[in-house]
Amino acid sequence: MPTNFGNAKVEKAEQLWEILGQRDDRGFEEQLSSSRPLHDLVSTFQSMGYPTVSEEYENAVVKCKRKLRGLIAEKNCAPIILRLAWHSAGTFDVKTRTGGPFGTIRHPAELAHEANNGLDIAVRLLEPIKEQFPILSYADFYQLAGVVAVEITGGPEIPFHPGRPDKTKPPPEGRLPDATKGTDHLREVFGHMGLSDKDIVALSGGHTLGRCHKERSGFEGAWTPNPLIFDNSYFKILLSGELEEGLILLPSDKALLEDPVFRPLVEKYAEDEDAFFEDYAEAHLKLSELGFANEE
Ligand code: HEM
Repeated sequence: MPTNFGNAKVEKAEQLWEILGQRDDRGFEEQLSSSRPLHDLVSTFQSMGYPTVSEEYENAVVKCKRKLRGLIAEKNCAPIILRLAWHSAGTFDVKTRTGGPFGTIRHPAELAHEANNGLDIAVRLLEPIKEQFPILSYADFYQLAGVVAVEITGGPEIPFHPGRPDKTKPPPEGRLPDATKGTDHLREVFGHMGLSDKDIVALSGGHTLGRCHKERSGFEGAWTPNPLIFDNSYFKILLSGELEEGLILLPSDKALLEDPVFRPLVEKYAEDEDAFFEDYAEAHLKLSELGFANEE
């Protein structure tokens, strides 16, 4: 039963609603917005598979979110914070269930991975806030910061579920994508995480924020003229094939245009920002919960 939610748990709630004979002629979304019992059913399904945290922990998440908004706005550091959250989560390997968003990225061994050049800055920027919330795991804290970075720059709201534990063992080096490579490589790397073609394209839209720094990656320049605004301009520029002076497209960005599955998604997101935001939020949520919540 397809829904616009694209979330396995919501679909299960919808199926149960139908089995219970509660479905009426209205669309599922309309029914959901007006029916309290259906709303509760969906909430119950959505909370399944997530650990329960204490009230004190939940309150700390709310307060920490406020502090993060302040810091990220003051320092204009949303891009590097999003990159930190993504590089923390993107090391997950679905087969061995190792790596992933479990706070290991703050350790010197992982920060020293070539792909993480410059991310020590993000770890340092966030530390004064983390110190105020010792109850929170670093794992939750970095993913919360990533969600705030997207929200505060005008991007979609991404649900956040707390309860990730901190792990000690950093992942092996080499699990994050190489910007000089093409579509096969992207599929291989994101496939190891357990993410789909749609996730690859939607998440690549994260390059709506920030820029490349020669001393960190060897590349230089921003993807868009407004690197502190989260919008669909990355896809518009990618598709137009015209780069203003100072802007950049990585080989891995351009690769999205060459693939018969990726390209139509680039076209869709360039055309329809709402569609991009919806798919981005879903993909970011998945990324931030790799190896954490049980989706099924
Ligand atoms: C698809 C494969 C990807 C490749 C090959 C890639 C590669 C890169 C490279 C080379 C940089 C420049 C780093 C620097 O010089 O400072 C960068 C920056 C960045 N990446 Fe990616 N990236 C990928 C996916 C993603 C994803 C999935 C996200 C988030 C959802 C993301 C978010 C960012 C952000 C926000 C920056 C800017 C950081 C800053 O301004 O300091 N990237 N990426």
